[in-house]
Amino acid sequence: MNSYSRVITLDVDKNAVVKTFNDQILAGINKGFSDFWVKVKSGRTYSNICAPIAGILDYYRDKDIRFEFEYDNNNKYIEHTKFSDPLIVEDYIDKGSINNPLDVVWKFSSSEAVHELVKAYILELRQADVVENGVISSMEWCINETLDNVLQHSNAGSGYIMAQHHKTTKQFSVCIFDSGIGIYNSLKNSIHRPQSALDAITLALQERVTRDIEVGQGNGLWGLSKIIDEAKGRLYISSCGAVYNKDFHNKEKMISWGYLNLGKNRGTTLVDFQLNYSNPIDIAKALNGYEPLDLWLENLEDTNGNVVIEIANQSGGTGTRKAAEKLRNLVLNILKNERKRIVLDFNGVNLISSSYADELIGKIIVQYGIVAFINNFEIKNMSEFNSGVLNRSVQQRMAQKYYDNKIVMDEE
Ligand SMILES: Nc1ncnc2c1ncn2[C@@H]1O[C@H](COP(=O)(O)OP(=O)(O)O)[C@@H](O)[C@H]1O
Ligand SMILES: [Mg+2]
Repeated sequence: MNSYSRVITLDVDKNAVVKTFNDQILAGINKGFSDFWVKVKSGRTYSNICAPIAGILDYYRDKDIRFEFEYDNNNKYIEHTKFSDPLIVEDYIDKGSINNPLDVVWKFSSSEAVHELVKAYILELRQADVVENGVISSMEWCINETLDNVLQHSNAGSGYIMAQHHKTTKQFSVCIFDSGIGIYNSLKNSIHRPQSALDAITLALQERVTRDIEVGQGNGLWGLSKIIDEAKGRLYISSCGAVYNKDFHNKEKMISWGYLNLGKNRGTTLVDFQLNYSNPIDIAKALNGYEPLDLWLENLEDTNGNVVIEIANQSGGTGTRKAAEKLRNLVLNILKNERKRIVLDFNGVNLISSSYADELIGKIIVQYGIVAFINNFEIKNMSEFNSGVLNRSVQQRMAQKYYDNKIVMDEE
């Protein structure tokens, strides 16, 4: 820490941390400081803190303000989120692909980046757990529309996103932030003429409200809001100092002034939503009959309408339980949503480990029974050696189930 720097704290689990953090920076700048030493306190943290903080830091860096960070030793997660130095999506596209999109802040600046990022998130969600009908398409809609809005309307050039998967509560949560003009400024010269920052947010949530009919159609935020209603999720939007919040019971709460903004012309926009993926979502009902196509899934279909999973391409290796668990979630999600027959094609797979076979296939057979397995799955192009590995691991899993049941019965 040099003696010219101003010490400020980032207390991640405090209320209104984002605004408090910004207020500390502003106060420092007003006193003539341009170097800040940020003490990051430990605590639980979420996307709706990391994404906006990342955006605020970059906003000030553009004005030649510098930041250094000091972390509490026991706070590895917040450091891992890279809020102080977000990952640039465009760099990852050049490197090949985005592999672990969750729990980190991404900065995006192009429609290509949005496309790749959405693809990576949705693949991750398909693999994260077995989710209810409609959840995947809903998440795709919500993330896509909100990211697109940053590029279309914020005038900021780039935005920030972080997403988390909370397995114990079965929630996906996503926060998208930009330090741009804000919704009020975007709409103020349109035919809709919002009266206030809050009025602008509630207008933007309505169907067919867009700043310019030549540019948009006004379906994005309307659809997001309807999907969140249908999903019994939570939606929080903050822009130009106002806040709109809809909780898990669809109860609305609004605050007209006093929240984050970076000045009159930099109202900023934060969109944060969460949904519980154990609730089915009727997306056609939410979007008045419109049902998005799942092109990813359609591309996997063969001419007989079966879904073909090429293990060599779709799986992150064939050795670990983790890779197998992700693929098992992916296929069970397809089965649950589509009720199509699934072909597990092992073409080009040299070796599967016994734990991989158990985690992918053994556990499905034990959970659903052999008849359901045969009716819903086909195993193709499996080498003799891998067949041996699979047979042995399934036998072992079935035997274990048999003895588990038997012991329970014997004890009763
Ligand atoms: N990140 C943002 N920054 C500024 N304005 C925004 C942002 N997101 C949405 N808006 C405003 O809300 C309006 C409605 O957005 P949306 O429902 O997605 O419709 P569309 O994008 O088709 O205009 C936009 O036209 C714009 O004026
Ligand atoms: Mg839009």
